[in-house]
Amino acid sequence: MTAKDTLEKIKKEFTEMIAGCGDLRSLEDIKVKYLGRKSELTTVLRSISGFSSIQKKEIGQYANLLKNQFAEKIKNLQENLGASRAKSEAKKIDVTMPGIAARKGTIHPITRVMNRINEIFISLGFGIAEGPEIESEFYNFEALNIPLDHPSRDAFDTFYIEGKQLLRSHTSNVQIRIMQNALPPFQVIMPGRVYRPDAVDATHSFMFHQVEGLMVDKDIKFSHLKGVLSCFCRSMFGESILMRMRPHFFPFTEPSAEVDISCIICKGKGCRVCSGNGWLEILGAGMVNPKVFKAVGYAPKKYTGFAFGMGVERIAMLLYGIEDIRLFYENDIRFLSQFV
Ligand code: DAH
Repeated sequence: MTAKDTLEKIKKEFTEMIAGCGDLRSLEDIKVKYLGRKSELTTVLRSISGFSSIQKKEIGQYANLLKNQFAEKIKNLQENLGASRAKSEAKKIDVTMPGIAARKGTIHPITRVMNRINEIFISLGFGIAEGPEIESEFYNFEALNIPLDHPSRDAFDTFYIEGKQLLRSHTSNVQIRIMQNALPPFQVIMPGRVYRPDAVDATHSFMFHQVEGLMVDKDIKFSHLKGVLSCFCRSMFGESILMRMRPHFFPFTEPSAEVDISCIICKGKGCRVCSGNGWLEILGAGMVNPKVFKAVGYAPKKYTGFAFGMGVERIAMLLYGIEDIRLFYENDIRFLSQFV
């Protein structure tokens, strides 16, 4: 076999091997076999010194040409096989890997308590209404029998905006809006945010939440108020809770009362939370003052009704044993994630 024939044979063999090669490992073997130090092609190149000068040139050139062609083909195939391996590896999904758990949010404690209050009153047949946080003096004060020159106005002092607009200092403003737009009988609760220019400390905030209640019909009595509120207290704080009403003054109700529950921490024995007296004040209430009915244009003496208002933060603090109101507003995940 002439050197030329040997080279043709090597070329044919190499071409077939490359065509049938489908992975990087066999490609490496081919590389060693056809370009390695012990390859036939290298042997031919090494023996070239014994050839005549014409042959030297012809065989030498051809052998080098083949060497370059082989190297190029191997390089191309190497690139193609490498790329497709990377692709198929990227596609592989390990179904046994633990998943990445989605971090679930929780309901804010104020929203939770508010939802619970709403649920209880809905079960008693109350509707829910909302009103504006930016109000006029009429709805926040005058219509509720809190005249400009009356000292009780201090208790409901608030932030003023341009003109005579203000941020409501209680949810009682919604009572007036309801009565202006509907005739009795009705019973509604009115949840929402309220504002007061109080210095912020562990028990005060310039913004907090209230739920207002109002029931009006032709023959509503104080006993209805007491019945509804004691039912609310039992549902909210447990069947064994006691409730008492103390006479109080609110301009928009007459008579008025403050409502206490037996201390949920010490069960009435006296502890730090109830300042040792066994009772916790949770809301204000009373029979709607006829002057309020007059302000909304109801026929005098035709209707009677009761109203009440409670602070949501206060109830949440008692229920969850939270000692600082500021925790509700700081958005600290360590605090909020406890309410699941
Ligand atoms: N508006 C009162 C407050 O912010 C709470 C209140 C007391 C509402 C008695 C009422 C009520 O409707 O009858 O302190």
